[in-house]
Amino acid sequence: MSNVHIPESPWFSYRDGALVCEGVALESIANEVDTPAFVYSGAAIDEAYRSIDEALAFAPHLIAYAVKANGNLSLLARLAAQGCGADIVSAGEMQRALKAGFPPDRIVYSGVGKRREEIVAAANAGIRALHVENIQELDVVESVAEELGRPLAIGLRVNPDVDAETHPYIATGLRESKFGLAIPVAESIVPRVLESPHLDLEVVACHIGSQLSSPRPLREAIEILGNFAGHCIDRGARLRAIDVGGGWPMHYGQEVDAYPPAARFGEAIREGLEASGMLRPEIEIITEPGRALVGDAGVLLTRVLYTKMQGDRRFVIVDAAMTELIRPALYGAYHAIMPIAEPDPGADLVSVDVVGPVCESGDFVAKDRPLPEVKQGDLLAIRGAGAYGREMQSMYNARPLPPEVLVDGSRSRLVRRRSGPEALWQGEILA
Ligand code: LLP
Repeated sequence: MSNVHIPESPWFSYRDGALVCEGVALESIANEVDTPAFVYSGAAIDEAYRSIDEALAFAPHLIAYAVKANGNLSLLARLAAQGCGADIVSAGEMQRALKAGFPPDRIVYSGVGKRREEIVAAANAGIRALHVENIQELDVVESVAEELGRPLAIGLRVNPDVDAETHPYIATGLRESKFGLAIPVAESIVPRVLESPHLDLEVVACHIGSQLSSPRPLREAIEILGNFAGHCIDRGARLRAIDVGGGWPMHYGQEVDAYPPAARFGEAIREGLEASGMLRPEIEIITEPGRALVGDAGVLLTRVLYTKMQGDRRFVIVDAAMTELIRPALYGAYHAIMPIAEPDPGADLVSVDVVGPVCESGDFVAKDRPLPEVKQGDLLAIRGAGAYGREMQSMYNARPLPPEVLVDGSRSRLVRRRSGPEALWQGEILA
């Protein structure tokens, strides 16, 4: 089978004609927990963490994993144990992160719309920094600090107005986007922040978007961010960290050219900091990778329920749907598909639409995808499903939430059960 659209992975490969995750046959997992199911490779996560850690070895740094990519407690605990921190966007994500063992001083909180009670919860937990993105939010943070009677560590998240050159839905650093403070606005509030007895300005932050295909926009944004940091320091801020956001890319398989390695993104960060005079030993670099840590560590395992011809189209109807992986429906995202039984290298490829059982035409995993012949009952692995899969799941059409399995070498462990029928109406009141 042509490998053009399937990213190479040491963690998901064929052995003796069957797809394995590390040392465990995916078919045996499907037999044990049924499908659809998410399967994660622990070693893939460890390796991804190591490569980003290495890329930033030139300076003190904190990798604050973007919990929104995948908040499964076992994955979080694994990352926390390696010294990783967490980037959260809600009190719920904070509770997850704390439960999984992230120390509060390794947690940063970004987000355009934090509720007062979420700010209170974060303040009470003693997290590392609240990233403020709005002047009205600053008022709320200040009043919470005043009420608590102690200053709160904050970051200012700026919007550097840099084109991340990525999908418009995941670009966040442009002037028209809802995220961050425009630099002139951020500069205008610095004196007020520094004068306030309730606020400690410790961090400046930005996040220009996800899936940065080139380190160039990152370098550009960080130089702008570094200049803003210099502006704050010149006015008396004692900055402790510069948070450069996420965006470290992963390969889904459709890329025409491979993305540069993590080391190149690390270099871009270093160059941006150097150019702005902010590569200083007393200033820690924080970064917030999400998908680069967990995305390619996960597959969504699914079984073919039926096949059919309709008009000119060949449909492969699988038991996974937009409820488990909404990315194709939402962004037209590409996810590589690998049959669990290794296809013949010379097998003919047929173009098919791989669709789920949900009652929406938008419920598809792949359209016009060349695949070797797939039959009813076959198992498929949808690659790149470790990030923004389970986290964006829904129970639409009253579908249960799928189980999750974590593999370590030759061992596999269930890290979330499939939800039972009671989860379908949990919290509802039959009046
Ligand atoms: N930091 C902040 C402030 C963010 O908003 C995000 C992602 C990240 C870090 C992590 O980005 P990553 O390294 O994973 O690219 N649902 C979309 C992605 C939305 C990302 C939102 N923010 C998807 O499935 O592609």
